[in-house]
Amino acid sequence: MTPDLFEQGAERLATHQARVVAEVTSGDRSASFGRIHEAGSLDVTHGRILYLEDVHVSFDGFKAINGLSLDIAPGELRCIIGPNGAGKTTMMDIITGKTKPDSGQVFFGSTIDLLRHNEPEIAQLGIGRKFQKPTVFEQLSVFENLELALKTHKGVAASMFFKLNGTQRDRLGEVLKTINLEDSVSRQAGNLSHGQKQWLEIGMLLMQDPKLLLLDEPVAGMTDYETERTAELFLALKGKHSLMVVEHDMSFINTISDIVTVLCDGSVLAQGTLPQVQADERVIEVYLGR
Ligand SMILES: Nc1ncnc2c1ncn2[C@@H]1O[C@H](COP(=O)(O)OP(=O)(O)OP(=O)(O)O)[C@@H](O)[C@H]1O
Ligand SMILES: [Mg+2]
Repeated sequence: MTPDLFEQGAERLATHQARVVAEVTSGDRSASFGRIHEAGSLDVTHGRILYLEDVHVSFDGFKAINGLSLDIAPGELRCIIGPNGAGKTTMMDIITGKTKPDSGQVFFGSTIDLLRHNEPEIAQLGIGRKFQKPTVFEQLSVFENLELALKTHKGVAASMFFKLNGTQRDRLGEVLKTINLEDSVSRQAGNLSHGQKQWLEIGMLLMQDPKLLLLDEPVAGMTDYETERTAELFLALKGKHSLMVVEHDMSFINTISDIVTVLCDGSVLAQGTLPQVQADERVIEVYLGR
């Protein structure tokens, strides 16, 4: 990383600092310099929780990701847009360890090299991912689904004797409120609406208190009402968590976004506020030209 990048990162950190509660395990910013960080601990003192540089991935010679570089500040809610096939989902596959890139760097904070970790380890490090299709346990209640989310880190034997402790019970209550399902706590998940199932799945991720949440097309298939509630949910999560949201729904993006990154052909085409990127000729061309 060059000194320039450090400065840009520090600037961004300053902008977001008011809302940032991401864990800084190494002390405050001034304490970070000249100090050795604990291996594997999340260090966001340089102003970024996620950092990708010059990442490349080919599938049978097709360059799905082609020189992708971007970074995200702690507590930021970053929106990613781009035409079909731009590489948005593949980027999330790379961050979560599902796909290994051919080259490039992918860091969580400034010390954790994600390319050295597998999928379960990356989840354990604090990166939660929401796929497009809800994957809740339909036969179980809302409460049981959330409870189960805490058990997944444990072994089978530990899960069988698992009981929520007081802190976990409080956390479950908080999450229920956040995802707007307090009134549905005993309902079977299979009877929830599509939007409620999506919220429940986000709740299951929140039970593990992820530092970074990756959400791929979260409002696809939702009603307008559910989409609005989801926008409120994400705005409430911003600051407490860092979020990367991929969406095609521009009015949703308009409601939640600060900075929007436009991906095209596997790299960043443009970045800025939504009005800025929408006015960009290159962006107009890729959206209209296909
Ligand atoms: N495992 C794979 N094998 C072969 N090609 C793949 C694989 N995964 C993705 N691709 C290709 O890489 C390109 C990028 O796909 P990706 O799913 O990341 O796009 P996207 O931006 O998420 O698109 P959409 O908006 O339609 O979801 C596409 O052309 C896709 O066909
Ligand atoms: Mg996709």
